[in-house]
Amino acid sequence: MSRDFFNSRAATWDDEVAEKDASRLEAMAERLDIRLGASVLDIGTGTGVFVPFLLNKIGSEGKLVCLDFAEEMLKIAKTKGFKGKISYLCTDIENNRLADNSFDAVVCYSVFPHFNDKVKAFKEIYRLLKKGGNLFICHTSSRQAINEVHQSIPEVCNHLFPENEDTRRMLSEVGFEDIIINDGKDNYMVIARKLVVVV
Ligand SMILES: C[S@@+](CC[C@H](N)C(=O)[O-])C[C@H]1O[C@@H](n2cnc3c(N)ncnc32)[C@H](O)[C@@H]1O
Repeated sequence: MSRDFFNSRAATWDDEVAEKDASRLEAMAERLDIRLGASVLDIGTGTGVFVPFLLNKIGSEGKLVCLDFAEEMLKIAKTKGFKGKISYLCTDIENNRLADNSFDAVVCYSVFPHFNDKVKAFKEIYRLLKKGGNLFICHTSSRQAINEVHQSIPEVCNHLFPENEDTRRMLSEVGFEDIIINDGKDNYMVIARKLVVVV
């Protein structure tokens, strides 16, 4: 199971796997429309590589929930002593107990291909977002490059991005609107909004 895989990699994650180029993370963060004071769910926090960039965006009044199902990854994130209104939740996004309509934004940085049941994860994310809230799926490498890396690792060889049109269809069927998929040469970003009901 992939939880075991990530737990087994936690101790060496930052040295061997995590993105080390802060300018790439900064550029990715700049593309996220997240305001000061926002309430944000970071899914697949891991060792917290993207956390400082999210905390910068939400400021001291914002709230960040860092969610990951691999306790060893989250343990390392916690040791980094991030300052702000931050909490940690060890659970599977596909089976979580968070309340409906809780977040202005949900960020999935380097986790989307790993969701076991992507439609179930999208349904949960949709449920957790406030109306008008955004889902951001983001990566600092291209979709193709990440698929190739995953295909070369036995434990995650089936953890692949769907075709972009399949991702769009899944998001749309769950209820997301204004879906933008930017499948770049060296980055990947999906933005999708939870419908605001106008009566
Ligand atoms: C590739 S790592 C990325 C970690 C971090 N975002 C980074 O870039 O360094 C994916 C993370 O997502 C977590 N994860 C995968 N599927 C998950 C799920 N269904 N629910 C919660 N966490 C999940 C894994 O435990 C792992 O820590």
